[in-house]
Amino acid sequence: MLKGKKILVGVTGSIAAYKMATTVRLLIKAGAEVKVIMTPSAGNFISPLTLSTLSKNDVLQQLADNSSWANHVMLGRWADVMLIAPLSCNTLSKMATGACDNLLMAVYLSATCPIVVAPAMDEDMWHHPSTQKNIAAVQAYGNHVIPVNNGELASGLSGDGRMAEPEQLLQWLNDFFLKHKTLAGKKVLITAGPTYEAIDPVRFIGNASSGKMGIALAAELHHRGAGVTLVLGPSSQKIPAGIDVVNVRSAKEMYDACIKIFQQTDWAIMSAAVADYRPAVAAGQKIKKNTDTLQLDLVKTEDILKQLGTMKKDHQCLVGFALETNNEKEYALKKLDSKNADLIVLNSLNDAGAGFGYDSNKITIFDKKGGEHHFDTKPKPAVAADIVNTIISYCHE
Ligand code: CTP
Repeated sequence: MLKGKKILVGVTGSIAAYKMATTVRLLIKAGAEVKVIMTPSAGNFISPLTLSTLSKNDVLQQLADNSSWANHVMLGRWADVMLIAPLSCNTLSKMATGACDNLLMAVYLSATCPIVVAPAMDEDMWHHPSTQKNIAAVQAYGNHVIPVNNGELASGLSGDGRMAEPEQLLQWLNDFFLKHKTLAGKKVLITAGPTYEAIDPVRFIGNASSGKMGIALAAELHHRGAGVTLVLGPSSQKIPAGIDVVNVRSAKEMYDACIKIFQQTDWAIMSAAVADYRPAVAAGQKIKKNTDTLQLDLVKTEDILKQLGTMKKDHQCLVGFALETNNEKEYALKKLDSKNADLIVLNSLNDAGAGFGYDSNKITIFDKKGGEHHFDTKPKPAVAADIVNTIISYCHE
């Protein structure tokens, strides 16, 4: 899987830098092309000569020397992936804030390739709230993080913070390229978030959906090479780079956007919590509280999933969600049928850690061929991977 792949390795100042000699050697043995960038302090931990010899390329350390300039923009464009390992606490904090004071940071900030980091630090540093905040920020920018190991640390203590071993770094890259390729050429439409239905110019009917599940799906599909259009209701979540976003507010706007896009898509995944009703009339001006009671007439919104179900061609796969509180399976199967979907992803509000606002979810997927797929409670990105894997196997059965 790594044969012919261009890997840009960024080494920062950490004891774990010694592992990069083995990592670079394994990458070259696997047929990858490797270029190495070192931060100024990385040279205290491993010699540039070692890494240039093993990578068969000059090691880059400075933006410019007396006679030439390292083209940081081209380096990030050359690479299929940039691996920053070990990632020190210092470079992590620069990545979180966008500081640009060395070649590695200039390449990182201008890179268009996917970026993965392997942190290495002492356990207390790793668990410090500022480190965890920085890791979360770096992930929110769309970077990948290879988990730290628990084990012997440079301080002599033992705990979390030990950098992944070279074999684990290679395994991660292998899996990444395996996943990355499989959906190249596929076009996917995803809806996510709530919708807001106007009552008057300042008020609306909405719901507590964060959009996190649909955004995790968009990220997973993009990561696997699919072209993703995300039709997103009002949401404050960050969207990873590379995903086409159509921002909408109401169910009608979401409906119009989906109808326009659906015919060019292979898969459509409706994860939005679309309002089922909207005020029959949205007042043109702010409603004043002149009466003791106020009645709103509501009318049904357009059912996007149902409409796409009537338009669906044989080559297209349509996935809906069902959030239920009781008779979960019965209602989910009813939706599968009535909306002509291929798969329905069921969340039950009776499961701990599932539903609106959580970072985790617990799902069961029902498919049109009678399949029933159960999953444990997992973080939403892992749930997204389960959903995508289930769609892939359903389409290939
Ligand atoms: N959906 C949609 N358009 C709507 C409403 C829902 O596309 N106007 C989609 C959701 O994105 C989800 C699925 O339909 O994929 C949910 O089905 P639905 O029957 O609308 O669920 P509920 O809103 O929970 O309805 P009910 O109260 O009947 O359970």
